[in-house]
Amino acid sequence: MNNPFSATSAARFGTKFGRDVKARTINNKLIEAVLTSCEPRAKQLVEQVDSGGSQVSRHRAHTSVANAAVLARQVSALPVDNLSKMVVDPADSKPTEYALATGQAAVHRLRILDQVYGPGTRTLLQHCGLQRGMRVADIGCGVGMVTRLLADLVGPEGTAMGIDVSADQLEQARSLAKASGQKNLSFFQGDAVDTGLPHGSFDLVYCRFLLLHLRQPTAALRQMYSLLRPGGILVCEDGDLTSAGSIPASALNAFADLFGQLAPIRGVDYTLSRHLHRLALESGFAQPNIRIHQPAIAVGEGKSLLVLSVIEASPAFLDAGLLTLEELGSTVADMRRATEDKNVLALMPPMTQVWATKIS
Ligand SMILES: C[S@@+](CC[C@H](N)C(=O)[O-])C[C@H]1O[C@@H](n2cnc3c(N)ncnc32)[C@H](O)[C@@H]1O
Repeated sequence: MNNPFSATSAARFGTKFGRDVKARTINNKLIEAVLTSCEPRAKQLVEQVDSGGSQVSRHRAHTSVANAAVLARQVSALPVDNLSKMVVDPADSKPTEYALATGQAAVHRLRILDQVYGPGTRTLLQHCGLQRGMRVADIGCGVGMVTRLLADLVGPEGTAMGIDVSADQLEQARSLAKASGQKNLSFFQGDAVDTGLPHGSFDLVYCRFLLLHLRQPTAALRQMYSLLRPGGILVCEDGDLTSAGSIPASALNAFADLFGQLAPIRGVDYTLSRHLHRLALESGFAQPNIRIHQPAIAVGEGKSLLVLSVIEASPAFLDAGLLTLEELGSTVADMRRATEDKNVLALMPPMTQVWATKIS
């Protein structure tokens, strides 16, 4: 870097400056500038600071943006288009425990996630008792990747409803569903622990990568129990983020390290899938079935899931003080190199699949 201030000092500046202005907003916007390689946006930020800041503040803000731009170039080995799709807009961030992006910023990574886990999901749904004509719910549906699959599998005589707490996710889900031309699906905004939907209204309730993001996963499972009619089927898929990595060990192991450290800070359990069978039992399901599989990827787009997830959750890692902006830059660059190395086999989070019938 050929400028006098480090990127770390840029981040520190955000915090210091924020004692009298909005520190977190400034920090988040600098991070955003870094992750998007988006200097014009960073300059806009400086203009905002210019209109209210002192001479010293203005100088520091300009320096911070210069550092952010330098770091952005280091990190931007990933295609800029993809980065800008993934960026988290602080204005959109919700006061929830969810550490990843929502809305347009979430679509790219959730598509990749579906490439990795979708085949296992389809096989599970074909085995668990799902039938044409059923009424099914997909809770924590995100942008509706599985909701659309469910709508397809139940056919026009059945219905699929995607439920998510985030209006931004649902906006994307609705527009992707419209583009697919499917008519038998709908979306509903609600919290997994208390959807407000009538009890007994579904033949099958599904969720994927939801429970590990919740502070009250058992309450969500109990809610799923009550949403099912007697004889209805629960189908849950959840991953253990701390058991991802690579063979041989590589920079991709940062994924497990960072999420492992973040979980207690956010009050969630990213190893929840290890206990999913017991949690289903405790929530009223008498005889849950279980299967565990771990996708391993040497080459191809799916391999980028680990680095994309670290980039997407980076505002949460930085907020939690797990690493500096500078460390984030080098971690992402190292992870990207490992992703491109065909001798490194990426091990995705192992997926636990639990399915059970509601007896009575
Ligand atoms: C990792 S995404 C998974 C999306 C989708 N199930 C899939 O596999 O593509 C987790 C989703 O859970 C949603 N979510 C988080 N907390 C929630 C809550 N309390 N109630 C409902 N949805 C929630 C998030 O908004 C996000 O869309």
